Amino acid sequence: MNREAWIDDELRKLRVDNLERHIRVFPHAGGKINIDGHEVLNFSSNDYLNLAGRPELARAAKRAIDDFGAGSAASRLVTGTLPIHDELEMQLARHKGYPAAILFGSGYLANSSTVPALVGRNDTIFADRFIHASMIDAAKLSDARLVRFRHNDCGHLEELLTMHADKGRRLILIESVYSMDGSIPPLREIAATAEKNNALLLVDEAHATGVLGPRGGGLIRQEHLEESVNVAMGTLSKGLGGYGGFVACSESIRKLLVNRGRGLIYSTAPPPSVAGSALAALEVLDKEPDLGTILMERASRFRKRLNDAGLDTLDSQTQIIPIIAGSNESALGLAERLLEDRIIAIAIRPPTVPKGTARVRLSVTLAHEDRDLEQASEVIIRAARNEGIL
Ligand SMILES: Cc1ncc(COP(=O)(O)O)c(C=O)c1O
Repeated sequence: MNREAWIDDELRKLRVDNLERHIRVFPHAGGKINIDGHEVLNFSSNDYLNLAGRPELARAAKRAIDDFGAGSAASRLVTGTLPIHDELEMQLARHKGYPAAILFGSGYLANSSTVPALVGRNDTIFADRFIHASMIDAAKLSDARLVRFRHNDCGHLEELLTMHADKGRRLILIESVYSMDGSIPPLREIAATAEKNNALLLVDEAHATGVLGPRGGGLIRQEHLEESVNVAMGTLSKGLGGYGGFVACSESIRKLLVNRGRGLIYSTAPPPSVAGSALAALEVLDKEPDLGTILMERASRFRKRLNDAGLDTLDSQTQIIPIIAGSNESALGLAERLLEDRIIAIAIRPPTVPKGTARVRLSVTLAHEDRDLEQASEVIIRAARNEGIL
């Protein structure tokens, strides 16, 4: 008997719906890469500040390996915490303007450890409809009741908070730059609603870290809301060009996570090289505080060109720019046409985005010069016309 026959059926179903995914291998990860001797613009990289290939980061990672070894060899609560982890947490707290910070193996682990530490079975989570899968998984792990409010709709959030007034502790989950459409939340309004309703607020700054706010400190810093946002989650894997995740918070939330954060307690501490390159990335941000502003300006000129041609980029206000194609076939077709013209932009389909809103997601990075973006916009507009999207 073939015990795996059902897997072939599942995969066939995905193929029929144009939903099967594949892993492709690329020579490296930046915004501009050389494939078979040709320069290709990569709009699917999250290396927003073009830091992943910076020699300062590589040097710092190598130095950390020389000083502390290739691995941490134990979890943080055993013997895996090294001076470089301690130093990075101090610098992350400073960078975000919070009293404390705690490091995790990845952004996914940061979310899936923090949410279940803050709420449990008798509590309620209020999540924006567009939040990232790592927070949905975290909510499921917590066993708390999960209610979703309409994207960026503070009125709907307030309604739901009133409706679920007596349901234990309450936690609101939002992002500061939404990963699939590049929109920004009405943070001031949501923070005030959270305070008024005695709800904790966690803001996932994965795509804002290094990009928004003074020296890339994020949207919370930009809006001076450190006192009203309880948890500022971030990742080292996107704007900071490395790997790993973190949470900036009060001293008491940090202590709670040390005692209840399962991804910290039951997983090996990040390797010293990861902490070393993250420290070097923070130094770059101190020395070159305008990188995020330059990125936003370039992205906004690029987006305007696409919009002027009639392309729908939803409410994008940032370096993440979706091009709505509608059907899965059109999104895949557009991505295919762009690839023929040496532009990598991956099609994003349900369940990652709502049905009927399949899109090609473009991430502008500092590897893309204005001239590249001008040429790319012409290619994208032509491809969208040929695909029948325009
Ligand atoms: C909004 C958001 N949160 C969390 C994560 C997870 O971060 P990491 O890739 O560091 O695990 C991602 C990206 O993958 C993300 O887009």
